[in-house]
Amino acid sequence: MSLEAHTQAVRVWDLPTRLFHWLLAAAVLGLFVTGQIGGNLIVWHMRLGLLVGALLVFRLLWGVVGGRWSRFASFVRGPGTVLRYLRGQTQASEHLDVGHNPLGAGSVLAMLALLALQVGSGLVADDEIATTGPLNRFVSSDLALQATAWHAGIGRWLLVALVVLHVLAIVLYARRGKRLLPPMISGDKQLPASTPASTDSLTTRLLAAVLAAACAAAALWLARLGG
Ligand code: HEM
Repeated sequence: MSLEAHTQAVRVWDLPTRLFHWLLAAAVLGLFVTGQIGGNLIVWHMRLGLLVGALLVFRLLWGVVGGRWSRFASFVRGPGTVLRYLRGQTQASEHLDVGHNPLGAGSVLAMLALLALQVGSGLVADDEIATTGPLNRFVSSDLALQATAWHAGIGRWLLVALVVLHVLAIVLYARRGKRLLPPMISGDKQLPASTPASTDSLTTRLLAAVLAAACAAAALWLARLGG
């Protein structure tokens, strides 16, 4: 049996990445519901928004120092590689299917960017009734109104569309025999034994906890700026 044919469980998504993902998914769902209902729930909408802000900053840092397959360097690819991937002209040794494949990476980056815009616009938003974001007083009322229109309008629906597309893509991959969901739960994929793994040790998890605590502290500080 060749080395490539022999497969084993390889850690792809480290624990911090998995916790990030499921916390993000739960918070985004909560944001959608609290944003739709409004009223007293807007307090929770703002809290969850700050949580998503903290998660995004954490993911940005984890994309630099995290496990191998969580690093941006492992999945941000140029258009040339994406085209080669779509034409099936890539080599197994390039490991393009271990973490996010070049196509999935595009949707991951789009979701992260859109979420950042959604949090940013929420921070300065003004609903012209009773609620303003914590950074609203630092921007002009014109900018605040534009940000609010984006936040409650096109930004929100673009994000909903991307999340629906994300979940649909995962279902479609599963129907074609490629199950992406179990690795986002257990962390492991069944891959050729020669595939490099993500480090997911006590030390890296402690590092993630320290970074996450710093991100949470920064979000709380930001919330207090609103007075
Ligand atoms: C039932 C709902 C969801 C399921 C089943 C799901 C599943 C997954 C899976 C399997 C992956 C890994 C894809 C791959 O192998 O390339 C992934 C990645 C990702 N998902 Fe979801 N997801 C869900 C909801 C969401 C929501 C609501 C968001 C946020 C808007 C989200 C944002 C992301 C992001 C940002 C990544 C990249 C993770 C990273 O690299 O840190 N997902 N998701």
